[in-house]
Amino acid sequence: MNHRLKNHGNARGVTVEADAPDLEMSARKCLGLQHSAPCTIVILGATGDLTARKLVPTLFNLYLNDGLPNPFQIVGCGRTKMSDRQFRDRMKKALGAINIINHAKWPSFADALQYRSIDYEHLTSFLKLSAFLKDIDQKHNTRGNRIFYLALLPTLYKPVAQLLGQAGLNTERENGHGWSRLVIEKPFGRNLKTAVELNQSIQEYFKEHQIFRIDHYLAKETVQNILMFRFANAIFEPIWNRRYIDHVNILASETLGVEHRAGYYEQAGVIRDMFQNHMMQLLALTAMETPPQFEPDRVSDEKVKVFRSLKPFPVENLHEHIILGQYGPGKINGKPVPAYRAEPGVSSDSLTPTFAKMKIYIDNWRWQGVPFFLTSGKRLAQKITEVAIQFKEVPHAMFRHTLDKGIAANRLTLGVYPDEKVTLTFQTKNPGARVCLRSVTMDFSYHQNYSGPILNAYEKVLIDCMLGDHMLFWRQESIEQCWSFLTPILNECETCGNRSEMLHFYESGSWGPLNI
Ligand code: BG6
Repeated sequence: MNHRLKNHGNARGVTVEADAPDLEMSARKCLGLQHSAPCTIVILGATGDLTARKLVPTLFNLYLNDGLPNPFQIVGCGRTKMSDRQFRDRMKKALGAINIINHAKWPSFADALQYRSIDYEHLTSFLKLSAFLKDIDQKHNTRGNRIFYLALLPTLYKPVAQLLGQAGLNTERENGHGWSRLVIEKPFGRNLKTAVELNQSIQEYFKEHQIFRIDHYLAKETVQNILMFRFANAIFEPIWNRRYIDHVNILASETLGVEHRAGYYEQAGVIRDMFQNHMMQLLALTAMETPPQFEPDRVSDEKVKVFRSLKPFPVENLHEHIILGQYGPGKINGKPVPAYRAEPGVSSDSLTPTFAKMKIYIDNWRWQGVPFFLTSGKRLAQKITEVAIQFKEVPHAMFRHTLDKGIAANRLTLGVYPDEKVTLTFQTKNPGARVCLRSVTMDFSYHQNYSGPILNAYEKVLIDCMLGDHMLFWRQESIEQCWSFLTPILNECETCGNRSEMLHFYESGSWGPLNI
């Protein structure tokens, strides 16, 4: 790349700038918009919410940004009988509802959308799908490359993966052309046993490199940046340990309630919904050691080590390590909202937790004795996702005689939402003759100096899946390690006699129940 050095008049402020075409090319490269091999994306569960709200809008957006392979085809499959035209109309309506329809580009995108009705329990239906996909390969030159996206109820993951396999849709040609990839949304199992069983049944037909287990948190720019921040800068790593860090707070609070998802949420609760996946990933990225290479398997290896080092919760005094809560009525943004138990589809005596705060320890050299507080809940005061590193206080309080209060310790916050930023809090002197300190912050916002396009989490996930890159996906081993850690807690919380005593009710719009 042809770099020019420009001096902006400040003797210390020399900025490196690239030529405009270079910038455009590198932005495109950074976005990952290099074209992957032609392929067909098969969405199983195409009449569902996820397809209309996320998948087709994401694919359309990628199409508008020239981010889809050429050629590509999209085949929606669902139980409902529908023609291609009806499916296209339905998707066009869904895009209109979220204001991303582009009337000029829609017809050419819609040409690549097809629909097949399918019976998720019968092999014949999958054999017909197989014949149909072969036909598409011939007509559209999609070269036998296929992504099967399971946008289905989790109970269908196992039968559908197996029938895809039995219909031969799992086979790959040896030369790297003609690949077959399976994309699965969470939840991956309900506990350790079911996660292992599910994996075994999928792996009867699909190899690990063919399976893409999604966690949309991993695809968030700011979440990925935790690794860049830690490992591409020399100044933080030496202090990233028990000598300097007092504790770590990982927060994912939401203002949303359970909405129309009671059927799923009543079975899941906050631990399965947020902790087993997103919170564990945030923890791993914050606590892991430096991988030898930035490669999916090497990064996963380091994450697994963190999960393996999680100190098991003492089930006999669980209340000292975990607080569970459920939202009662209250106000969000000034508007009254009902209690969880009054939400449609939720039982009036439900004991499902919608809030959890956990104190977790990692049993290794770096983190011995440092508590990690993980908090997530619905209907809380604000939607915030962040990792806050709280450093220790200064070892020698030399200002203690002149100050009437202690000196606040440094805090580094990696903001994921709503502020995508990095903030460092430190102490400075207030102007004046007396020694008075004040906390100030040094802020970096991700949008500073960047005006290019930003891909959303699903766009990144789909691009990586088309490229066959596993960096943003869960490996089975990690899933099992996390379940090993959480399953005893879930068992204790869900089966113990004092289950209702463990659940603290909190007002919607508050910050949840008591602290631990
Ligand atoms: C999903 C959970 O995985 O993540 C939802 O199922 C939750 O319950 C959502 O609301 C939070 O994601 P985000 O990106 O809005 O923080």
